Amino acid sequence: MPLTLAKLPYEQDPEAIELSRKRLGIRVEKHTPLALQRHLYRPRCPPVLRGAFTVRRASSPQSAMDHDERIKALFPHVHHKPIVEIAFHDGEKPMSIGRPLRLGVLFSGGPAPGGHNVLAGLHDFLASRNISSSLVGFLGGPSGLIEGKYKEITEETLFRYRNQGGFHLLGSGRTKIETPEQLDAAFTTCERLQLDGLVIVGGDDSNTNACVLAEYIAARGGTTCVVGIPKTIDGDLRNAYIEASFGFDSACKLYAEIVSNLALDAVSAQKVYHICRLMGRSASHITLEVALQTHPNLAIISEEVAAHKQTLGMIVDTIADLVCERAALAKNYGVIILPEGLVEFMPDIKSLIQELNEVLAQAPARNGVAAGDAPQNPSEEADEANALGDPDASLVVIRRIAQRLSKESAELLSSLPSAFAVQLCMDRDPHGNVQVSKIESERLVAEMVERELEKRKQEGTYRGKFSAVTHFLGYEGRCGLPSNFDCNYCYVLGLVAGGLVENGCNGYIARATGLTQAPELWHVGGVPLTAMMTIERRKGRDIPVISKSVVDMAGPIFQNFKRERHSWALSDDYRIVGPMQFYGDGADCLTISMQIGD
Ligand code: FBP
Repeated sequence: MPLTLAKLPYEQDPEAIELSRKRLGIRVEKHTPLALQRHLYRPRCPPVLRGAFTVRRASSPQSAMDHDERIKALFPHVHHKPIVEIAFHDGEKPMSIGRPLRLGVLFSGGPAPGGHNVLAGLHDFLASRNISSSLVGFLGGPSGLIEGKYKEITEETLFRYRNQGGFHLLGSGRTKIETPEQLDAAFTTCERLQLDGLVIVGGDDSNTNACVLAEYIAARGGTTCVVGIPKTIDGDLRNAYIEASFGFDSACKLYAEIVSNLALDAVSAQKVYHICRLMGRSASHITLEVALQTHPNLAIISEEVAAHKQTLGMIVDTIADLVCERAALAKNYGVIILPEGLVEFMPDIKSLIQELNEVLAQAPARNGVAAGDAPQNPSEEADEANALGDPDASLVVIRRIAQRLSKESAELLSSLPSAFAVQLCMDRDPHGNVQVSKIESERLVAEMVERELEKRKQEGTYRGKFSAVTHFLGYEGRCGLPSNFDCNYCYVLGLVAGGLVENGCNGYIARATGLTQAPELWHVGGVPLTAMMTIERRKGRDIPVISKSVVDMAGPIFQNFKRERHSWALSDDYRIVGPMQFYGDGADCLTISMQIGD
């Protein structure tokens, strides 16, 4: 007798699915039933965005977060503007409905789930205003704007991307628009295409860039309004004005599923420690959220490491102590998570990286460090570093480089597992800096803990077995199907950005607030980008920036984690989260960080 299963929501509307397939114009087998169903998802949004609305002033002109006078001098045309809100059109102010608009949009930086819905929101806003409006998307990120490479985004091109992951309709990139030539080229493209608005979807740096461009265009008498959208899975574009960046919700849910599966594997097989590095270079929001979701035996938070000046040795000891305690309970397994940026927060490794950056970027004669038998110019040094693929050659070069470091850094470099020392000395970006995101800190930690435990075994203080499997949970979190929250949030941000452009809001970032409530209750509007700015010293220069938000150790999210974490260390109180849900209970669940709030 055939087994009858209850129909899943996506199986309940065969006609809609068929229509969707026809519109997609693709072979049926190319799309899973779930992907097809996601095409049909209608993002939820505040009712005000569904009809005629007006953008109105909601505050007095805003000062910068800090260094107001300096920000004012740098951004005279876009500074001191008020916060604005989107409200029902009350008939007092004439609406500009009817004017066809031409908008450009680009993705900047790493992908984040939901980006295509920003495009959908922009498109639908334009379509609702005037069918002669048009939307162009710049290809490959900011470089597409600079080089004038773009494509028209129509309903036909957009349809198959609605509610889907990735940034691949346009692509993205990390080019900055900051030199006079780049600014001029971007301005020229905006003028040539007669853009009423340019929407930049990006993180803190990209939104800082958006503000620089907004100022530049206004100063040159251009009429293109530049509007930013808060994006980054890292969750570090969050401040008094912006409650969340899109992508964080989906990425954390994806990572949490994997970590909790690994936890179940650990406790089932009882033979390994899974050590996972999670994306998030400058802030540990992802690791903190995944810890709250999954209850690992240990979660390391970079901000705490920096605050307590914990060195690599101290972290290795902390992990080794945990392994010993668990071994005493016959638990030779577990799950440990750590953030991608950890190495940059450990004071000893940080100093080592800084010294290496200098030593490898400068000729020995210039930096004044005893050169020994070191090569005489940086390119020769770089060539040698590149030869480090050969283990013997690597050791020779590492020893040579160590001669040019301070005693502490030289000792640290020599004490590191050779593969890690090679990574530090070899993988450099075009500016000669260590590419921290490529450093496999999970393997470093695993190897150093193994060494430490071996030592303890010799001393008779540890009798367990330690075997580690390492994982980097990074890119797989950036392009998954967006959660309902990210679908809704991105769509709303797209609609809002359209409204801001229509109302001439140059140098603003689109926002929605009240995000813990149902989307129908969100408040929407815009904040002048300069209100989120301060001056920071980076690479020896004072520059205007939107600061990254790092984990607030005094805040309720971290405090919640701190209260709970001791009970997770030994008890295996793993929380199994399962795959992200799109229907039914749990589909609209927010991250724990968002629920607790800062
Ligand atoms: P954005 O801030 O641009 O959104 O990117 C964040 C991120 O995903 C980080 O977590 C990670 O360190 C970085 O991108 C890696 O970027 P790349 O794609 O250049 O390797």
